Amino acid sequence: MVIGIYDSGVGGLSVWRELRRYTNARLLYFGDTCHVPYGEKSPEQLETYFWEIVGFFQTQGCQSVVVACNTSSALVLPRVRDRVGIPVFGIIESAVQAAVAVSGGRVGVLATRGTAESGVYQTMFRTIYPQGQVFVQSAPRLVPLIEAGQITAQVTRDALKEYLAPLVGRGVDTLVLGCTHYPFLQELLVDLLGPDVRIVDPAPSLALHVTEELPLEPAEMGPRGAGTGFWVSGDPTTFQETAERLLQEKLPTVQCHPMAGERA
Ligand code: DGL
Repeated sequence: MVIGIYDSGVGGLSVWRELRRYTNARLLYFGDTCHVPYGEKSPEQLETYFWEIVGFFQTQGCQSVVVACNTSSALVLPRVRDRVGIPVFGIIESAVQAAVAVSGGRVGVLATRGTAESGVYQTMFRTIYPQGQVFVQSAPRLVPLIEAGQITAQVTRDALKEYLAPLVGRGVDTLVLGCTHYPFLQELLVDLLGPDVRIVDPAPSLALHVTEELPLEPAEMGPRGAGTGFWVSGDPTTFQETAERLLQEKLPTVQCHPMAGERA
């Protein structure tokens, strides 16, 4: 089994690192870095990228796709789900399930503009957790800062503090990281939120769901050791440097796969 995982950039690595804990299946990662940030793109643009990336994954032998991106999960999956011929997984439901498991009833969601304005989290929480209250805050400046590797910089701290303030003001007891880039801000988040707010990274819950749903061979069920490959649509060197800094490990050489009609 080969599993394709994609995001606009380095964010989906927070999902990749969790998936790797659950399966030895080969993981192929694609960062669409020539189109980052996805949070500012239209559903039509994001759908175009989706089909091109799924097509690329299929040429590489992928038999399933993990959309390691809240924005595409929110804006693209409802439009395409019935037309993809292979299993495709989004992150929103896993995120809500993980939050409900720990929440005391007041949930904050930090997300990109696209995800926040889609209303998908608000709708999913109303369905799964009608007794809870959910507050969604968009945080458009964070993804470019994380892509630049600025995960502890003062400018990032200031932006995060500003975005968290309305949620803290609402007295949230749980914060869902509604963008796969945000787990890389864990240190700042803990520092700014203190010990009383539970921080939910949806990646472990999604990784578990994917590995439970896919027909993995017994040999593919052990942790780690998965063969893995990395591709980007933009500059592979920048991605490699940032990814290795965020994950604190060496990765195989990142390759470039330009998107049709787009700058590479
Ligand atoms: N990491 C993605 C998400 O979860 C995309 C962020 C972006 O490119 O704006 O939404």
